[in-house]
Amino acid sequence: MAEVERTERGPQFIIGERVTLRRIERGDLPRIRQWLDDPEVRGMIGATKPMTEEEADAWFDDVTGDPGRAWFVVIRDEDDRVIGEAGLLRLFPEWRTTDMSVIIGEREAWGQGHGTEAGNLLLDYAFDYLGLHRVAIGVVGFHEEALWFWKKLGFKQEGVQRDGYLHDGKFYDFVMMSILEDEWRALRTGAAAASEGEGS
Ligand SMILES: CC(C)(COP(=O)(O)OP(=O)(O)OC[C@H]1O[C@@H](n2cnc3c(N)ncnc32)[C@H](O)[C@@H]1OP(=O)(O)O)[C@@H](O)C(=O)NCCC(=O)NCCS
Repeated sequence: MAEVERTERGPQFIIGERVTLRRIERGDLPRIRQWLDDPEVRGMIGATKPMTEEEADAWFDDVTGDPGRAWFVVIRDEDDRVIGEAGLLRLFPEWRTTDMSVIIGEREAWGQGHGTEAGNLLLDYAFDYLGLHRVAIGVVGFHEEALWFWKKLGFKQEGVQRDGYLHDGKFYDFVMMSILEDEWRALRTGAAAASEGEGS
């Protein structure tokens, strides 16, 4: 699994090859608010309006204080820049389930594999560190790139919330997707075998 620096309340850092997940800090909020100023990004993640400073503070208290959440920022190692956020929500260890979220907020960082790595690090954390069985996500139906992104991470479509999302006066479906621990392990084993093959 990914290298994890353990602290009392879980890992502070989850260290990958090109990105690191670090626990969110209040000082990250101005940057996160900037991403939500972008109407296209808001549309992709189902946010209806920009975030005020007060709302950002309340959101931070929520993601850091609620035991059902574990929130990180995504740091691009080459320039130490915070390029996104990733977290678990509706985390319910009793049922070994959680939902997750990955947002690469910096447009210039899209399409370079950072989202995939951040997603895999968070899945490592969910399945290996927390011992969960199921991780789920809801994707706005018109967001083809995100549907593809989650599929590439190993998520499978399990249903559709018809007209679950009202955006710019139009209804869209929400596509519900999930990955189970055995599916994730099979993918991880396959990936490890492939990279060993490359090295030999
Ligand atoms: C969706 C998102 C997380 C993908 O992360 P990323 O770092 O841009 O994607 P990756 O480089 O890891 O690419 C993974 C796959 O997703 C596709 N992809 C998804 N979003 C893309 C984007 N905006 N630009 C380019 N490719 C994208 C890629 O084509 C790639 O597939 P491929 O290897 O077959 O070409 C990121 O673009 C993002 O956060 N966008 C804005 C907010 C959002 O939509 N979040 C997801 C909400 S469900």
